[in-house]
Amino acid sequence: MRTIDWNDESNTIQLIDQTLLPREYRVIECKTIEALCEAIKSLRVRGAPALGATGGYGIALAAVLSKAVNMDDLTKELQSAAKTIKSTRPTAVNLGWGVDRVLKATSDAYDLEGMKSTAIEDAKQIADEDVAINKKIGEYGAKLLEDGDTVLTHCNAGKLACVDWGTALGVVRSAVEEGKNIKVVACETRPLNQGSRLTTWELMQDNIPVTLIADSMSGHVIRHGSIDKVIVGADRITEDAVFNKIGTYTHSVIAKEHEIPFYVVAPTSTFDFKGWEGSVEIELRNSDELRYFGDLQIAPENVNVYNPAFDATPMENVSAIITENGVFKPPFLLDEVLI
Ligand code: MRU
Repeated sequence: MRTIDWNDESNTIQLIDQTLLPREYRVIECKTIEALCEAIKSLRVRGAPALGATGGYGIALAAVLSKAVNMDDLTKELQSAAKTIKSTRPTAVNLGWGVDRVLKATSDAYDLEGMKSTAIEDAKQIADEDVAINKKIGEYGAKLLEDGDTVLTHCNAGKLACVDWGTALGVVRSAVEEGKNIKVVACETRPLNQGSRLTTWELMQDNIPVTLIADSMSGHVIRHGSIDKVIVGADRITEDAVFNKIGTYTHSVIAKEHEIPFYVVAPTSTFDFKGWEGSVEIELRNSDELRYFGDLQIAPENVNVYNPAFDATPMENVSAIITENGVFKPPFLLDEVLI
């Protein structure tokens, strides 16, 4: 199934619980906004484009759960749900984008039932568009990959991070579909291991060759010529920086030093046209993510911890940004991304 979907029978959101992978594949149902927010915060659903769809479905869920008897009251309830959902994760721009898009769509409806059905339809449309956009991105991005390439990726920018197909891994999938032999080196992505748990899992499902390395090994493998290209997703792109999973910046510096391309792959919904590096809030996560590995304590109980979820890669380290509107090379003029 898709990473996230709407269940028409129960009017609930169903999603693959990514915290359980690769040990267990389980689909869970979110019946309340509280359950949905918990799923977002604990990364049961994660990845920028998937969060865009989640935001949209969140407003649809709030609409069907509402007992409001007039449009004004429903609007107020949806605005409050929007605030709650957006506050769960501050860095990925897509979450707020999905929430706002569906909220705006409901404001064009003529009656209460119309608001509810519009919310569901628009959220479903975001999900469908996400798949189509990723396929388009894949088409453009595949042209940058050559037969025999080995690409290094960080975190999970695959189908699990989107509704389906993927951004960075979508480019790999499209290149493989064209008949190219592509190998992937997946960085484990400490502390929550989206690379080792999710990227390896989904590539192995598709029989795409993948080798797992620890994050700290990227310098070694790039220096020894084992990597042709680095390809990553993004959570937010401002005029001067690309925000992605913590550790991405380090790979970009190493790629630049060794003169290999560093590609960023993202839909236009990930762009923050008003922001700049300093304006973006970087999500700080729970210290126990570093003190514990699952249930296993791996650091002193009271050790000071700094646990930012994302870092910023300056544009001068980026060789190209691949979107559904094409491949953009430096100098990056964000306006050109929208055609
Ligand atoms: O904290 P996460 O797992 O939501 O972080 C995800 C990433 O950093 C991805 O690389 C990014 O969202 C791009 S997904 C296509």
